[in-house]
Amino acid sequence: MTFTHRHLLGIEHLRPEEIVTLLDLADDYVALNKGETKHSEALAGLTQINMFFENSTRTQASFELAGKRLGADVMNMAMQASSITKGETLIDTALTLNAMHPDLLVVRHPHSGAVDLLAQKVNCAVLNAGDGRHEHPTQALLDALTIRRAKGRLHRLNIAICGDIAHSRVARSNIILLGKMENRIRLIGPPTLMPSGIAEFGVEVYDDMARGLEDVDVVMMLRLQRERMDGGFIPSEREYYHRFGLDAAKLSYAKPDAIVMHPGPMNRGVEIDGTLADDINRSVIQDQVEMGVAVRMAAMDLLARNLRDLRGAA
Ligand code: NCD
Repeated sequence: MTFTHRHLLGIEHLRPEEIVTLLDLADDYVALNKGETKHSEALAGLTQINMFFENSTRTQASFELAGKRLGADVMNMAMQASSITKGETLIDTALTLNAMHPDLLVVRHPHSGAVDLLAQKVNCAVLNAGDGRHEHPTQALLDALTIRRAKGRLHRLNIAICGDIAHSRVARSNIILLGKMENRIRLIGPPTLMPSGIAEFGVEVYDDMARGLEDVDVVMMLRLQRERMDGGFIPSEREYYHRFGLDAAKLSYAKPDAIVMHPGPMNRGVEIDGTLADDINRSVIQDQVEMGVAVRMAAMDLLARNLRDLRGAA
């Protein structure tokens, strides 16, 4: 098998052939999910615990559904209500959970690096569901699957990632993945929302939508991550929408068959026009949600196979 990891912590650690293996398996799960009986036994007997230290709607629901469709026993820990608020450290929480013998731990945390740290302390497979502004690997994988299915390939595409790049783990994981698969990546946004040292990632940077979107195959929009900003990164939301919000007029600079993506949650009228987001001829936003479940099923299936191999060898 070409996917040999114990955890899924970031795209950084994956080789291109491992990404392809995972996406191929996810394609099978897309087919399963379209059928009458959406069930397999890949995780039968295993326990999956979801620990979300940050709010999430679609990612948590998607992981929960993915685990249930694969036959795992799935538990959601309400972290706001847990001992964390009583001052317990992340490591203490991890050790407590470890004593319950989970097999798969899905973790979202506001601090970059927290999920890696946790993975070192537990005896199960850990999946990063987003850590600070660091990585969000399953989001990049579901975006990749959406692009591959819409465009028929995942290489040599012109892909624009637009908006609040600096605060976005979605952007970071996507830049790494799409770069590994040899695409041409353009980042578009105001200079205040570009991370420092971005040139090292081998991307082109624009602060103008008309020039940046010229001839692109894929337009990926990002939310303004207000919760990670401490002050004046943009003049006003109205001004931001005027310059960087995607509407039909700005999209006309891209290729005529360019697709529109957004990881959600969307701010309609801030980074994207609501009508365009709902236009099923251009927008693949609902497909992204559908691919999310399949990609998470594939990721947990592969990790569970490795876990069983590891335990069998011990
Ligand atoms: C993203 C996240 O949480 O990083 N959302 C998601 O996972 N669907 C992007 C965001 O919050 O804007």
